Amino acid sequence: MKNFTDYYEKRRSEVEKELRNSLVLVSNSPLKDNIEYVFSMGGKRVRPLLTIFAAEAVGECSDDAMRAAVAIEILHNFTLVHDDIMDNADTRRGKSTVHITSGVNTAILVGDLMIALAYDCVEKCDTKNLQGIMRIFNEGVKEVCNGQALDESLSKCTGGSMPQYMEMISKKTGALLMTAGKLGALLGGGSEAEIALLGDFGLNIGIAFQILDDMLDLEGDNDRFGKPRGLDIIERKKSYLFLKAQQLMDNNEFKVVSDAYNKTSVAEIDVLAVRDAYQKSGTFDAAKREVAEYTARALSSLNMLKESDGKDALVELANSLVQRRF
Ligand code: IPE
Ligand code: IPE
Ligand code: MG
Ligand code: MG
Ligand code: MG
Repeated sequence: MKNFTDYYEKRRSEVEKELRNSLVLVSNSPLKDNIEYVFSMGGKRVRPLLTIFAAEAVGECSDDAMRAAVAIEILHNFTLVHDDIMDNADTRRGKSTVHITSGVNTAILVGDLMIALAYDCVEKCDTKNLQGIMRIFNEGVKEVCNGQALDESLSKCTGGSMPQYMEMISKKTGALLMTAGKLGALLGGGSEAEIALLGDFGLNIGIAFQILDDMLDLEGDNDRFGKPRGLDIIERKKSYLFLKAQQLMDNNEFKVVSDAYNKTSVAEIDVLAVRDAYQKSGTFDAAKREVAEYTARALSSLNMLKESDGKDALVELANSLVQRRF
């Protein structure tokens, strides 16, 4: 891989173009402008790039692999629109969320329509194995919903354990990256073993990605993070930080965290107090180690693949995600 950044940007702009082209499939819908708005908000496009690089790691990125890549990004955007309703988030990617611009009912429908649009895209894959592709895709859709349901129930219960958290993030975030890796490998012409390896790569990258997302909720780049700060505390999320802090702090030290989680109205000063407590107790350091551990696990799945530009791009992608600040 000569210059990863240039290559990433080239593939990213192809994804943008294909996303826009997909709008023709909803051209008669009263919700078309809303979907166009979601696509125009930006986003890192990590999942479609994972699909493309996975295809290239075992073969080549065909038109079908590109269709699947775009389908996964559309699916991801559906999850964000509904997630922002569930999490009471008024901004995403630095812009107003759909339920703020257009109301909750419309945002629900925009999300629903995006699921159908995603299926439309994946169904256009011109391959004998369409059934296998559909099965992997649908498994991803179901697992994200299950993971979001676990997130919801964990935020409402008084307890919550690290194993429950790991199950929750493996589903709500890991499953979609796993789907991206598997579909890329399948459509790139990979063997069963390669499909499994790239699925594992996606899953472990996804777990690292979500733990880091929980950290960025408190320490992301102000300008680029684009989401409300401290929302996990306000929404009483059982984040990695909350559960790790519970293990690392004594009852007295943890009181600042539990007090903030029990408040009906959380102020900026409460969020800062929790952040300081996490810092002092080594909670952020523990999270950083966990992100490094899952990234290393993901990279070890790639060791078994033959050398290729696609494999190099996946290594670069994994390393760039660990360092991200937004
Ligand atoms: C946000 O995903 C949702 C999580 C799983 C944490 P991204 O951080 O990939 O969001 P965009 O697409 O770049 O905005
Ligand atoms: C979101 O987790 C996972 C999905 C959207 C499925 P979060 O709720 O932490 O994601 P952000 O922080 O809003 O992007
Ligand atoms: Mg959210
Ligand atoms: Mg959420
Ligand atoms: Mg988050």
